[in-house]
Amino acid sequence: MASPQLPSNFHIPLGIRHIKKSHKESIIGTNDDAASCKLSAVNVGYYSDPFVKYFVKSPIRRQPLINRGFFSRVECIEQLVEQFNGQYSGVKKQIVSLGCGFDTYYFRLKSRGTIDKENIVYVEVDYDQVITNKIKIIQNHKELQDTEKLSSMTNHQIIKSDTYRLGPIDLTNMDTFKIFEQLELDYNCPTLFISECVLVYIPTNCGNQVIEWASKNFTESGFITYEQIKPYDEFGKMMIKNIEMKGCPLLSIESFPEIEDQRKRYNNLGWNKTEILDMREVYNHFINKDRIKETNKLEIFDEFEEWDLIQSHYVYVFAIKSKNEQILNSYHFEDTKN
Ligand SMILES: C[S@@+](CC[C@H](N)C(=O)[O-])C[C@H]1O[C@@H](n2cnc3c(N)ncnc32)[C@H](O)[C@@H]1O
Repeated sequence: MASPQLPSNFHIPLGIRHIKKSHKESIIGTNDDAASCKLSAVNVGYYSDPFVKYFVKSPIRRQPLINRGFFSRVECIEQLVEQFNGQYSGVKKQIVSLGCGFDTYYFRLKSRGTIDKENIVYVEVDYDQVITNKIKIIQNHKELQDTEKLSSMTNHQIIKSDTYRLGPIDLTNMDTFKIFEQLELDYNCPTLFISECVLVYIPTNCGNQVIEWASKNFTESGFITYEQIKPYDEFGKMMIKNIEMKGCPLLSIESFPEIEDQRKRYNNLGWNKTEILDMREVYNHFINKDRIKETNKLEIFDEFEEWDLIQSHYVYVFAIKSKNEQILNSYHFEDTKN
């Protein structure tokens, strides 16, 4: 499979002087790793997800540090999505997962009854290879085919049902965004974008185009990004090196090394308000305290120093766009820190 095209003015980040032929495969591999870590957290009992097991070939139990990190990552998205949905209750909305990988959030929401065709359409896009594999898994497990009989609506590259749409994209190539026409994305609906550990893998200018496309095309919208920051301290340098060794360097981390750089990125690309917390703050202040208490009982955990260090190198960005000042002001993310 060919590597994605990088722009000619693309700056290769510090310490990264070669991009292997299998760059795309390496990026796709990060999805298998994410699914495997999510399954580990689920199997230990951090959260419930009856669907993720279908996406992992060989389950492995991960360290408590990883399980707890994935719990926090998943819980935070859920709380942010809930806030967005709450702003537009009774109105049809869209959730668009960019670089969805094998994430199962759609299936969880659907099984909880949160999604029905009157209120939410869930759209997922990723590289063609990931989409083909996700569709195969869905077709092979009837537990993933909800009441609308998803499988009967698929071909190898697209799923289109009333509430679920899945299709191929290359986020570095805006021409491939025409997939959204085929998936019948509604540009008039309040729309929440999720990019969970995705944009940091693509060149800065390509990521900017995606973020700007989302702000330009939707009036009532949100953009959630989860990704790494702080590449320059000792831990950050090690983190970058480890990921680089896996063949999928963090191509935009140096453009947005700190929280304030991230904030400027979104504000400059058309978002009205951008709230950001690092994952240490997310865990300490934003995640529901009862959930923290429940999950603290699950495993012996004493790696507090390492936890703080790792968590301070990841952030959640929550960028918001709305014509309604009241909506803009009623989100709460950063203010939970106070
Ligand atoms: C770390 S995985 C995260 C998957 C999922 N968002 C999650 O958190 O479970 C990164 C995902 O981004 C996708 N991705 C990275 N670059 C992409 C691109 N240029 N176009 C489409 N998908 C891309 C990969 O294929 C992979 O599924």
